[in-house]
Amino acid sequence: MSTICLIPGDGIGPEVLASARQVLTALALPLEFIAAEAGWATFERCGSALPAATLAAVQAADATLFGAVGSPSQRVEGYRSPIVELRRALDLFACMRPVRTPALPQARPNVDLVVIRENTEGLYSGLEQRDTDRATTTRVITRAASQRIVGWAVNYARAHQRHHITVVHKANVLRETCGLFRETALAVLADAPDIQWNELLVDNAAYQLARTPEQFDIIVTTNMFGDILSDVASVWGGGLGLAASANYGPRTAIFEPVHGSAPDIAGRQRANPLATLSAAALMLEHLYYLAAAERLRQAINHVLRHGPHTPDLAGSASTADVTTAIIHLLNDR
Ligand code: NAI
Ligand code: MG
Repeated sequence: MSTICLIPGDGIGPEVLASARQVLTALALPLEFIAAEAGWATFERCGSALPAATLAAVQAADATLFGAVGSPSQRVEGYRSPIVELRRALDLFACMRPVRTPALPQARPNVDLVVIRENTEGLYSGLEQRDTDRATTTRVITRAASQRIVGWAVNYARAHQRHHITVVHKANVLRETCGLFRETALAVLADAPDIQWNELLVDNAAYQLARTPEQFDIIVTTNMFGDILSDVASVWGGGLGLAASANYGPRTAIFEPVHGSAPDIAGRQRANPLATLSAAALMLEHLYYLAAAERLRQAINHVLRHGPHTPDLAGSASTADVTTAIIHLLNDR
Protein backbone atom coordinates (compact mmCIF):
# COMPACT_ATOMS: atom_id res chain seq x y z
CA MET A 1 0.00 0.00 0.00
CA SER A 2 1.32 3.44 -0.94
CA THR A 3 0.12 6.69 0.55
CA ILE A 4 -0.27 9.54 -1.90
CA CYS A 5 -0.66 13.10 -0.69
CA LEU A 6 -2.79 15.20 -3.07
CA ILE A 7 -2.42 18.99 -3.02
CA PRO A 8 -4.84 20.63 -5.48
CA GLY A 9 -3.86 24.28 -4.85
CA ASP A 10 -5.40 27.16 -6.81
CA GLY A 11 -6.77 27.98 -10.26
CA ILE A 12 -6.79 24.92 -12.50
CA GLY A 13 -4.93 22.93 -9.81
CA PRO A 14 -8.14 21.46 -8.31
CA GLU A 15 -9.47 20.65 -11.82
CA VAL A 16 -6.40 18.72 -12.93
CA LEU A 17 -5.94 16.98 -9.57
CA ALA A 18 -9.57 15.83 -9.59
CA SER A 19 -8.82 14.28 -12.96
CA ALA A 20 -5.65 12.62 -11.64
CA ARG A 21 -7.45 11.21 -8.63
CA GLN A 22 -10.12 9.61 -10.81
CA VAL A 23 -7.54 8.17 -13.18
CA LEU A 24 -5.34 6.81 -10.38
CA THR A 25 -8.43 5.25 -8.81
CA ALA A 26 -9.33 3.62 -12.14
CA LEU A 27 -5.91 1.94 -12.19
CA ALA A 28 -7.04 -0.09 -9.16
CA LEU A 29 -3.70 0.00 -7.38
CA PRO A 30 -3.16 -0.29 -3.64
CA LEU A 31 -3.10 3.48 -3.18
CA GLU A 32 -4.40 5.50 -0.28
CA PHE A 33 -5.03 9.22 -0.84
CA ILE A 34 -4.58 11.99 1.69
CA ALA A 35 -5.70 15.47 0.70
CA ALA A 36 -3.75 18.50 1.91
CA GLU A 37 -3.98 22.18 1.12
CA ALA A 38 -1.55 24.86 0.05
CA GLY A 39 -1.54 28.05 -1.97
CA TRP A 40 -3.14 31.44 -2.18
CA ALA A 41 -6.65 30.45 -1.07
CA THR A 42 -5.11 28.61 1.87
CA PHE A 43 -3.07 31.70 2.75
CA GLU A 44 -6.14 33.91 2.62
CA ARG A 45 -8.03 31.54 4.87
CA CYS A 46 -5.43 30.66 7.46
CA GLY A 47 -2.50 33.05 7.02
CA SER A 48 -0.06 30.44 5.73
CA ALA A 49 0.37 29.19 2.18
CA LEU A 50 1.92 25.99 3.48
CA PRO A 51 0.30 24.93 6.76
CA ALA A 52 2.31 22.69 9.08
CA ALA A 53 -0.26 19.92 8.56
CA THR A 54 0.45 19.94 4.82
CA LEU A 55 4.18 19.73 5.31
CA ALA A 56 3.62 16.83 7.73
CA ALA A 57 1.29 15.06 5.26
CA VAL A 58 3.87 15.34 2.46
CA GLN A 59 6.58 14.02 4.77
CA ALA A 60 4.45 11.09 5.84
CA ALA A 61 3.35 10.16 2.30
CA ASP A 62 5.24 7.88 -0.07
CA ALA A 63 4.82 10.51 -2.78
CA THR A 64 2.89 13.70 -3.42
CA LEU A 65 0.98 14.90 -6.45
CA PHE A 66 0.80 18.69 -6.54
CA GLY A 67 -1.56 20.69 -8.76
CA ALA A 68 -0.52 24.32 -8.99
CA VAL A 69 -0.70 27.36 -6.79
CA GLY A 70 -1.31 30.96 -7.65
CA SER A 71 1.34 33.20 -6.18
CA PRO A 72 0.73 36.95 -6.42
CA SER A 73 3.34 39.02 -8.21
CA GLN A 74 2.83 41.94 -5.86
CA ARG A 75 4.45 41.78 -2.46
CA VAL A 76 2.24 40.22 0.20
CA GLU A 77 3.60 40.13 3.73
CA GLY A 78 4.08 36.57 4.94
CA TYR A 79 3.36 34.86 1.59
CA ARG A 80 5.92 32.56 0.04
CA SER A 81 5.40 30.15 -2.82
CA PRO A 82 4.58 26.83 -1.13
CA ILE A 83 6.05 24.69 -3.90
CA VAL A 84 9.40 26.47 -3.66
CA GLU A 85 9.12 26.14 0.11
CA LEU A 86 8.34 22.41 -0.09
CA ARG A 87 11.27 21.73 -2.41
CA ARG A 88 13.61 23.44 0.02
CA ALA A 89 12.13 22.15 3.27
CA LEU A 90 12.15 18.54 2.05
CA ASP A 91 15.48 18.82 0.27
CA LEU A 92 13.91 17.86 -3.07
CA PHE A 93 17.12 18.82 -4.77
CA ALA A 94 16.59 17.30 -8.20
CA CYS A 95 13.91 18.66 -10.52
CA MET A 96 13.50 16.55 -13.66
CA ARG A 97 11.35 17.61 -16.62
CA PRO A 98 11.23 15.35 -19.67
CA VAL A 99 10.19 16.72 -23.08
CA ARG A 100 9.44 14.35 -25.96
CA THR A 101 7.88 14.67 -29.39
CA PRO A 102 4.20 14.14 -28.56
CA ALA A 103 1.94 11.75 -30.46
CA LEU A 104 0.30 14.70 -32.18
CA PRO A 105 0.04 15.37 -35.91
CA GLN A 106 2.60 17.95 -37.10
CA ALA A 107 4.66 17.63 -33.95
CA ARG A 108 8.35 18.26 -34.44
CA PRO A 109 10.01 14.82 -34.62
CA ASN A 110 13.08 13.58 -32.75
CA VAL A 111 12.77 15.74 -29.66
CA ASP A 112 13.70 13.74 -26.58
CA LEU A 113 15.36 15.76 -23.86
CA VAL A 114 15.33 16.18 -20.09
CA VAL A 115 15.85 19.41 -18.18
CA ILE A 116 17.42 18.71 -14.80
CA ARG A 117 17.82 21.56 -12.39
CA GLU A 118 19.13 22.21 -8.92
CA ASN A 119 16.00 22.81 -6.91
CA THR A 120 16.97 24.12 -3.48
CA GLU A 121 19.23 27.14 -3.90
CA GLY A 122 20.29 29.55 -6.66
CA LEU A 123 18.08 32.57 -7.22
CA TYR A 124 15.20 30.83 -5.43
CA SER A 125 17.11 30.71 -2.16
CA GLY A 126 14.40 32.86 -0.59
CA LEU A 127 17.01 35.30 0.73
CA GLU A 128 15.46 38.55 -0.43
CA GLN A 129 15.48 42.02 1.04
CA ARG A 130 13.90 45.31 0.24
CA ASP A 131 15.00 48.69 1.58
CA THR A 132 12.76 51.40 0.25
CA ASP A 133 14.21 51.82 -3.24
CA ARG A 134 16.67 49.00 -3.42
CA ALA A 135 16.03 45.29 -3.42
CA THR A 136 18.44 42.35 -3.37
CA THR A 137 18.25 38.60 -3.75
CA THR A 138 21.08 36.39 -2.60
CA ARG A 139 21.91 33.82 -5.24
CA VAL A 140 23.36 30.95 -3.29
CA ILE A 141 25.42 28.37 -5.15
CA THR A 142 27.34 25.76 -3.20
CA ARG A 143 29.85 23.22 -4.35
CA ALA A 144 27.97 20.51 -2.46
CA ALA A 145 24.61 21.18 -4.13
CA SER A 146 26.19 21.62 -7.57
CA GLN A 147 28.07 18.35 -7.20
CA ARG A 148 24.93 16.61 -6.03
CA ILE A 149 22.76 17.76 -8.95
CA VAL A 150 25.34 17.09 -11.65
CA GLY A 151 26.12 13.70 -10.08
CA TRP A 152 22.39 13.00 -10.10
CA ALA A 153 22.23 13.95 -13.79
CA VAL A 154 25.09 11.55 -14.57
CA ASN A 155 23.33 8.73 -12.71
CA TYR A 156 20.08 9.60 -14.45
CA ALA A 157 21.84 9.44 -17.82
CA ARG A 158 23.28 6.00 -17.05
CA ALA A 159 19.98 4.64 -15.76
CA HIS A 160 18.04 5.90 -18.80
CA GLN A 161 20.44 5.13 -21.66
CA ARG A 162 21.27 8.76 -22.25
CA HIS A 163 24.76 9.75 -23.19
CA HIS A 164 25.10 13.50 -23.41
CA ILE A 165 24.83 16.31 -20.87
CA THR A 166 24.74 20.03 -21.62
CA VAL A 167 25.83 22.20 -18.69
CA VAL A 168 23.99 25.54 -18.85
CA HIS A 169 25.28 28.59 -16.97
CA LYS A 170 26.18 32.25 -17.35
CA ALA A 171 29.71 32.11 -15.94
CA ASN A 172 30.92 34.82 -18.29
CA VAL A 173 28.95 37.37 -16.22
CA LEU A 174 28.06 35.61 -12.97
CA ARG A 175 31.66 34.69 -12.39
CA GLU A 176 31.37 33.55 -8.80
CA THR A 177 27.99 31.82 -8.63
CA CYS A 178 27.81 30.37 -12.13
CA GLY A 179 31.59 30.07 -12.05
CA LEU A 180 31.40 27.71 -9.08
CA PHE A 181 28.53 25.76 -10.63
CA ARG A 182 30.41 25.37 -13.91
CA GLU A 183 33.71 24.42 -12.30
CA THR A 184 32.01 21.82 -10.10
CA ALA A 185 29.98 20.42 -13.00
CA LEU A 186 33.03 20.01 -15.18
CA ALA A 187 34.89 18.22 -12.37
CA VAL A 188 32.00 15.78 -11.95
CA LEU A 189 31.89 15.15 -15.71
CA ALA A 190 35.65 14.63 -15.85
CA ASP A 191 35.02 11.61 -13.62
CA ALA A 192 32.34 10.27 -15.98
CA PRO A 193 34.17 9.33 -19.16
CA ASP A 194 31.15 7.41 -20.45
CA ILE A 195 29.14 10.65 -20.66
CA GLN A 196 29.73 13.17 -23.43
CA TRP A 197 29.10 16.77 -22.57
CA ASN A 198 29.20 20.38 -23.69
CA GLU A 199 28.45 23.71 -22.08
CA LEU A 200 26.25 26.62 -23.19
CA LEU A 201 25.61 30.09 -21.85
CA VAL A 202 21.97 30.30 -20.81
CA ASP A 203 20.92 32.89 -23.39
CA ASN A 204 22.33 30.79 -26.21
CA ALA A 205 20.78 27.69 -24.61
CA ALA A 206 17.34 29.34 -24.82
CA TYR A 207 17.99 30.18 -28.48
CA GLN A 208 19.21 26.67 -29.29
CA LEU A 209 16.23 25.13 -27.49
CA ALA A 210 13.85 27.30 -29.49
CA ARG A 211 15.66 26.53 -32.74
CA THR A 212 17.02 22.99 -32.75
CA PRO A 213 15.76 21.08 -29.72
CA GLU A 214 16.88 17.74 -31.25
CA GLN A 215 20.48 18.51 -30.32
CA PHE A 216 19.76 18.11 -26.59
CA ASP A 217 19.76 14.98 -24.49
CA ILE A 218 20.13 16.11 -20.86
CA ILE A 219 20.40 19.73 -19.76
CA VAL A 220 21.68 20.35 -16.25
CA THR A 221 21.51 23.82 -14.77
CA THR A 222 20.79 26.03 -11.77
CA ASN A 223 17.37 26.68 -10.29
CA MET A 224 15.88 29.65 -12.16
CA PHE A 225 17.56 28.93 -15.49
CA GLY A 226 16.04 25.45 -15.36
CA ASP A 227 12.62 26.88 -14.51
CA ILE A 228 12.67 29.16 -17.54
CA LEU A 229 14.26 26.69 -19.95
CA SER A 230 11.75 23.99 -19.06
CA ASP A 231 8.86 26.21 -20.16
CA VAL A 232 10.69 26.93 -23.45
CA ALA A 233 11.39 23.23 -23.99
CA SER A 234 7.78 22.27 -23.19
CA VAL A 235 6.70 23.83 -26.50
CA TRP A 236 8.25 20.88 -28.35
CA GLY A 237 6.44 18.39 -26.13
CA GLY A 238 3.02 19.80 -27.00
CA GLY A 239 3.05 22.78 -24.62
CA LEU A 240 2.42 23.39 -20.95
CA GLY A 241 -0.78 21.33 -21.10
CA LEU A 242 1.39 18.21 -21.47
CA ALA A 243 4.60 18.96 -19.55
CA ALA A 244 5.33 16.97 -16.39
CA SER A 245 7.81 17.52 -13.59
CA ALA A 246 9.31 15.46 -10.78
CA ASN A 247 11.07 16.73 -7.65
CA TYR A 248 13.23 14.07 -6.01
CA GLY A 249 14.91 14.15 -2.61
CA PRO A 250 16.49 11.65 -0.27
CA ARG A 251 13.25 10.91 1.59
CA THR A 252 10.30 11.69 -0.64
CA ALA A 253 9.28 13.03 -4.04
CA ILE A 254 6.70 15.48 -5.35
CA PHE A 255 5.22 15.21 -8.84
CA GLU A 256 3.49 18.10 -10.58
CA PRO A 257 2.69 19.60 -13.94
CA VAL A 258 5.19 22.22 -15.13
CA HIS A 259 2.41 24.78 -15.51
CA GLY A 260 1.02 27.12 -12.92
CA SER A 261 -2.53 27.88 -11.82
CA ALA A 262 -3.51 29.34 -15.23
CA PRO A 263 -5.99 31.94 -13.91
CA ASP A 264 -6.88 32.83 -17.52
CA ILE A 265 -8.68 29.50 -18.00
CA ALA A 266 -9.42 28.44 -14.39
CA GLY A 267 -12.87 27.22 -13.43
CA ARG A 268 -13.95 26.67 -17.04
CA GLN A 269 -13.01 23.03 -17.58
CA ARG A 270 -10.56 24.10 -20.26
CA ALA A 271 -7.40 22.87 -18.54
CA ASN A 272 -5.57 20.00 -20.16
CA PRO A 273 -5.21 17.34 -17.44
CA LEU A 274 -2.56 15.40 -19.39
CA ALA A 275 0.40 17.28 -17.88
CA THR A 276 -0.75 16.21 -14.43
CA LEU A 277 -1.52 12.68 -15.64
CA SER A 278 1.99 12.42 -17.09
CA ALA A 279 3.33 13.58 -13.72
CA ALA A 280 1.18 10.87 -12.14
CA ALA A 281 2.82 8.33 -14.48
CA LEU A 282 6.25 9.49 -13.28
CA MET A 283 4.99 9.07 -9.74
CA LEU A 284 3.78 5.52 -10.39
CA GLU A 285 7.16 4.70 -11.88
CA HIS A 286 8.88 6.10 -8.80
CA LEU A 287 6.69 3.87 -6.62
CA TYR A 288 7.54 0.86 -8.82
CA TYR A 289 4.06 0.45 -10.28
CA LEU A 290 5.80 0.09 -13.61
CA ALA A 291 3.07 -1.69 -15.54
CA ALA A 292 0.45 0.81 -14.37
CA ALA A 293 2.72 3.71 -15.35
CA GLU A 294 3.09 2.22 -18.82
CA ARG A 295 -0.67 1.66 -19.18
CA LEU A 296 -1.31 5.26 -18.23
CA ARG A 297 1.32 6.50 -20.71
CA GLN A 298 -0.24 4.44 -23.49
CA ALA A 299 -3.66 5.83 -22.68
CA ILE A 300 -2.25 9.38 -22.81
CA ASN A 301 -0.62 8.68 -26.18
CA HIS A 302 -3.85 7.20 -27.49
CA VAL A 303 -5.75 10.34 -26.52
CA LEU A 304 -3.06 12.50 -28.13
CA ARG A 305 -3.38 10.51 -31.35
CA HIS A 306 -7.15 10.20 -31.52
CA GLY A 307 -8.55 12.85 -29.17
CA PRO A 308 -10.43 14.20 -27.39
CA HIS A 309 -8.28 17.35 -27.11
CA THR A 310 -8.64 20.40 -24.91
CA PRO A 311 -8.42 23.92 -26.43
CA ASP A 312 -4.64 24.25 -25.89
CA LEU A 313 -4.33 21.41 -28.46
CA ALA A 314 -6.87 23.11 -30.74
CA GLY A 315 -9.72 20.85 -29.62
CA SER A 316 -12.97 21.66 -27.88
CA ALA A 317 -13.06 18.93 -25.23
CA SER A 318 -13.32 19.69 -21.53
CA THR A 319 -11.01 18.53 -18.75
CA ALA A 320 -13.69 16.00 -17.81
CA ASP A 321 -14.02 14.71 -21.42
CA VAL A 322 -10.29 13.94 -21.57
CA THR A 323 -10.41 12.33 -18.12
CA THR A 324 -13.33 10.13 -19.13
CA ALA A 325 -11.57 9.09 -22.33
CA ILE A 326 -8.45 8.08 -20.39
CA ILE A 327 -10.51 6.09 -17.88
CA HIS A 328 -12.37 4.26 -20.69
CA LEU A 329 -9.04 3.31 -22.25
CA LEU A 330 -7.69 2.05 -18.93
CA ASN A 331 -10.81 -0.01 -18.33
CA ASP A 332 -10.61 -1.51 -21.83
CA ARG A 333 -7.20 -3.07 -21.33
P1 NAI B 1 0.80 29.22 -16.16
O1 NAI B 1 1.75 28.11 -16.33
O2 NAI B 1 -0.22 29.09 -15.10
O3 NAI B 1 0.05 29.52 -17.55
C1 NAI B 1 0.76 29.89 -18.73
C2 NAI B 1 -0.13 29.73 -19.96
O4 NAI B 1 -0.30 28.34 -20.23
C3 NAI B 1 -1.54 30.29 -19.76
O5 NAI B 1 -1.98 30.85 -20.96
C4 NAI B 1 -2.36 29.08 -19.42
O6 NAI B 1 -3.71 29.18 -19.77
C5 NAI B 1 -1.66 27.97 -20.21
N1 NAI B 1 -1.78 26.69 -19.51
C6 NAI B 1 -1.12 26.33 -18.39
N2 NAI B 1 -1.49 25.11 -18.01
C7 NAI B 1 -2.40 24.68 -18.89
C8 NAI B 1 -3.16 23.47 -19.02
N3 NAI B 1 -3.05 22.44 -18.15
N4 NAI B 1 -4.02 23.37 -20.06
C9 NAI B 1 -4.14 24.37 -20.95
N5 NAI B 1 -3.44 25.51 -20.87
C10 NAI B 1 -2.58 25.67 -19.85
O7 NAI B 1 1.70 30.51 -15.93
P2 NAI B 1 1.26 32.00 -15.45
O8 NAI B 1 -0.02 32.38 -16.05
O9 NAI B 1 2.45 32.81 -15.69
O10 NAI B 1 1.09 31.91 -13.89
C11 NAI B 1 -0.16 31.83 -13.22
C12 NAI B 1 0.05 31.59 -11.74
O11 NAI B 1 0.64 30.33 -11.53
C13 NAI B 1 0.97 32.62 -11.06
O12 NAI B 1 0.35 33.01 -9.86
C14 NAI B 1 2.24 31.85 -10.79
O13 NAI B 1 2.86 32.28 -9.61
C15 NAI B 1 1.72 30.45 -10.62
N6 NAI B 1 2.69 29.40 -10.95
C16 NAI B 1 2.69 28.32 -10.13
C17 NAI B 1 3.48 27.25 -10.39
C18 NAI B 1 3.38 26.08 -9.48
O14 NAI B 1 2.48 25.99 -8.68
N7 NAI B 1 4.25 25.10 -9.58
C19 NAI B 1 4.38 27.22 -11.54
C20 NAI B 1 4.27 28.38 -12.40
C21 NAI B 1 3.46 29.45 -12.10
MG1 MG C 1 8.01 27.28 -13.81
